[in-house]
Formats: sequence, C-alpha cells, structure tokens
Amino acid sequence: MEVSTAIANRRSVRKYKPEQISKADMSKILEAARLSPSARNDQARKLIVITDKKIKLEMVAACKNQSFVKECGAVLIAVHNPEKRWSAEDCVIMLDHITLQAEELGMGTCWIGAFEEDKVKEVAKIPADMRVALCMTIGYPDESPAARPRKDLDEIVCWEKYQ
Ligand SMILES: Cc1cc2nc3c(=O)[nH]c(=O)nc-3n(C[C@H](O)[C@H](O)[C@H](O)COP(=O)(O)O)c2cc1C
Repeated sequence: MEVSTAIANRRSVRKYKPEQISKADMSKILEAARLSPSARNDQARKLIVITDKKIKLEMVAACKNQSFVKECGAVLIAVHNPEKRWSAEDCVIMLDHITLQAEELGMGTCWIGAFEEDKVKEVAKIPADMRVALCMTIGYPDESPAARPRKDLDEIVCWEKYQ
C-alpha cells in the first residue's frame, strides 16, 4: 500500500472484531513503533501493549468509560520520560507510525486522549516519574467509518508568514 493511500484511508475505528491480533501483524506494528524517529534519537519512551481482557476492562474506566476500549485487540499506552525534552512528541510520532502501519495491514486504530492519567498509571503499573502521553486502541475493524471533514488547505496553510 502506498503511504498516501494509508493516510487517505485511515479512520478512527471504534468497533472491532473480537479476534486477537495475529503475531505477524503485531510484530509489524511494533517494528513500525521501534523505527519511528525521536529527538536526538533518545528513544525515551515505552509502548505498553495490553491484550489481557481484565486489564482492558480496567482501561475502560481509566479512559472515561469509553466502552469500545475493551472491544479492541489491544490497548496501547505510550509512556514518556518528562525529564527528556520532546519525549512526549516522540510518543505521538510513534503512535502515528502505528496508525499508518495498521492501515496497511487492514487494521483500525483510534487515538485515546480522554483518559485519567493516574488511573492509567495504576492499571499499567507505570512508575510515578513517568508520564502517559496518549493511548490508542488497535484491532481488526468491524465498521467502515466515513471520512470526517477537514478544513480546506488555505485555512491551515500560510506561506512565508502567519496570516
Ligand atoms: C490526540 C487525539 C486524541 C483523541 N482522543 C479520542 C478519544 O479519547 N476518544 C475517541 O473516541 N476518539 C479520540 N480521538 C479521535 C478523533 O476524534 C478523530 O481522530 C477525529 O474526529 C477525526 O476523525 P478520523 O480519525 O476518523 O479522521 C482522538 C484523536 C486525537 C488525534
């Protein structure tokens, strides 16, 4: 799949088939995460992959009761070290790589920004000095959402100066 096709076709998927993510697909997803760039190549981030049913259920509560969180193949938590400048951004880049790799594999993802950090840290046993950047659901889609609208280019792009 062309990268441009993956970018154009990606949607937030909130309904998943109950099947587990295959080992082959999961290793491609994790490799996309591993290869993503980071500031100074620090790689000061961790990706927690939650596949256990009981822990996924706990993640629903930590993610403001978004019930689809328990239906996905895996919940991903991107964790960064706040002492490392840009490590939060590095997490976002890592997750974005995952969204596009997932698209190529026929999988769906949804960013999860609505979460309570303390609860996520408790569920996933994340050390106190680490921060949760973002979470994401991933799995085999059981819906084909329509494209959400986007602003026109001239509303978001300015040339040479802000205007
Ligand atoms: C940083 C971020 C956080 C988001 N948090 C949530 C969330 O908590 N729950 C949810 O259902 N969707 C969440 N979304 C998905 C957005 O609602 C979605 O990307 C947007 O509506 C555009 O739709 P699309 O992804 O299908 O193009 C989030 C997206 C981003 C980028």
